[in-house]
Amino acid sequence: MGVLQFLGHSAFYVEGEGIRALIDPFLSGNAMASEGPEARAKLDYIFVTHAHGDHLGDAPAIAKRTGATVVASNELAAYLAGKGLKTIGMHIGGRSKFPFGRVKLTPAFHGSSVSEGGHVVCADVPCGFLLEIGGRKIYHAGDTGLTSEMTLLEAEGVDIALLPIGGHYVMDTDDAVRAVGFIKPRKTVPMHYGTFPQIEANPAEFAAKAAGMTEVVVMKPGDTLPF
Ligand code: NI
Ligand code: MN
Repeated sequence: MGVLQFLGHSAFYVEGEGIRALIDPFLSGNAMASEGPEARAKLDYIFVTHAHGDHLGDAPAIAKRTGATVVASNELAAYLAGKGLKTIGMHIGGRSKFPFGRVKLTPAFHGSSVSEGGHVVCADVPCGFLLEIGGRKIYHAGDTGLTSEMTLLEAEGVDIALLPIGGHYVMDTDDAVRAVGFIKPRKTVPMHYGTFPQIEANPAEFAAKAAGMTEVVVMKPGDTLPF
């Protein structure tokens, strides 16, 4: 048995047998965040879907403070390793065993890069994560548009899908409903909406449209969901 906690935007804390982890910890500078970057004393992993500031966020500082290992695409992992962080670089479609279960990187249709001093120093490939913890599967889509690649996730038997619904940079509510049709997750948690004006969306509208396809769980920052 594990627990998933929504921290606002696309940030989550996940705890289970052998894992205490953050996903996309955009906490400082995020008015929606339910906790700050100092909140967790002990962490094993930080999963980062891509380097945009609202996803990489506080990951470097938190990893440095806690000693947590950052799991990301190979490019982003190499960049962060160069900053002195412990990293595991994986890539799209690759699955790997971890002490708590398994991790697979999934495709995300999006962009990503890190700039320093006005120059791009790392162009990484954005991804999503399929986390298998205690036999349960959690899919964090990262930032992505709707893609037919999501149909491949149906065979995985996803227990909880974390899907962006805010539009503009990512899927809107209608496309997220189509994604639910592709993935067929038991439960779905909408994310990546309402944090800034471009990504205003109504999670109740998403829940109404996806009714009968999945159990939509609209989480407020700080809310927890057992799995
Ligand atoms: Ni992004
Ligand atoms: Mn984003």
